[in-house]
Amino acid sequence: MEGGTVSVTLEVEAGPAAAFEALVDELGASLGRIGIEFSPGPDGRILESGFEVGRVVTWDPPGRALLRWRAAEWDEDDVTELELRCESAGEATRMTLEHRGFGHQFWAEDEIVGWFADQVATPFLARSAPRMYGNWLTDRAARRPYGGFARTSYRDPTHHRPSFGAVLATLRPEADDVLLEIGFGGGAFLEQALRSGCRAAAVDHSSDMVRVARELNADAIADGRLEIAQGDAAKLPFEDDRFTCAAMMQVFFFLPDPAAVLAECRRVLRPDGRLAVFTVSEEARGSPASPEPMASRSRFYTDEELVQLAREAGFAEAHVSRPDLEPFAREAGLPEDVVAFFAADQRAGQLLVAH
Ligand SMILES: C[S@@+](CC[C@H](N)C(=O)[O-])C[C@H]1O[C@@H](n2cnc3c(N)ncnc32)[C@H](O)[C@@H]1O
Repeated sequence: MEGGTVSVTLEVEAGPAAAFEALVDELGASLGRIGIEFSPGPDGRILESGFEVGRVVTWDPPGRALLRWRAAEWDEDDVTELELRCESAGEATRMTLEHRGFGHQFWAEDEIVGWFADQVATPFLARSAPRMYGNWLTDRAARRPYGGFARTSYRDPTHHRPSFGAVLATLRPEADDVLLEIGFGGGAFLEQALRSGCRAAAVDHSSDMVRVARELNADAIADGRLEIAQGDAAKLPFEDDRFTCAAMMQVFFFLPDPAAVLAECRRVLRPDGRLAVFTVSEEARGSPASPEPMASRSRFYTDEELVQLAREAGFAEAHVSRPDLEPFAREAGLPEDVVAFFAADQRAGQLLVAH
């Protein structure tokens, strides 16, 4: 087999088995997001728009997986090899992804340098450069969470529970309420709110968060008390006048069009419906309540701006408070050092309440 060899390597502090499993899982999810289907295993395949690009010929985890690769769908002789290896390197594991024999279709031999610079090195450098790296970190952890860490942490977002307490103390849902939540993360607030006996529906644009929230609230969904939808806050997939109350925590600062979202809240709330939005203030920028790189990708509002946005969206009454979250942190059973953080950070949170 002729052609070039492209190889990428990463060392991680994990055993080979865990590293291999995590890599295959993340790779499958990530390829799926760009429309490439990867089914791992001894008979595994990779499909791009239904065309078989890769087929597993050796599946020997965690050491090695070898795939036969079709680089060009118009040339069946253009067959290359893709190898995935996880080898011990002291305490760490070295993961290698190696593509061998690539480049049969280049017009001239040195075109492989152009392909490498343009298609491999530039995306790699761009993704390690501050702006795209910061965007990736923000999306992955908070703005549209996905991946194994996000799925675990949003199942029980301990540091968000005090804001859940403040919002519940404001909305006080009861059995005859129909609650809306926008940007539900792992569905932990819904699980807590549904204990009141209310019914609820909720929307989030992250497919991973939809999955976690559905798992966490499977009983309420099966009982017909909860509907979980994937969608955009600015275009709520719910009918007019459906809800008696609405909640949004740790979401508002990411919204590109907050006026549209508040107008949508007004539309789906009954005329006497109430809204509670918990967000962080400019004073919290750079603190644990609003760390970088999220802070520089967030929009902050003064209390007056929040009130004005709510009024312009059609709410007759609106006010903003800076709630003391310490009692709610204690009520949530958080350890004393975490409670102390909420006690110290009194002006970090803004609670917009509108009717
Ligand atoms: C920081 S997390 C907060 C999750 C949860 N509210 C909590 O406090 O734990 C923000 C959530 O809002 C969702 N989100 C952000 N912007 C959104 C939008 N425009 N439409 C729908 N969901 C959105 C994200 O996917 C994510 O799940």
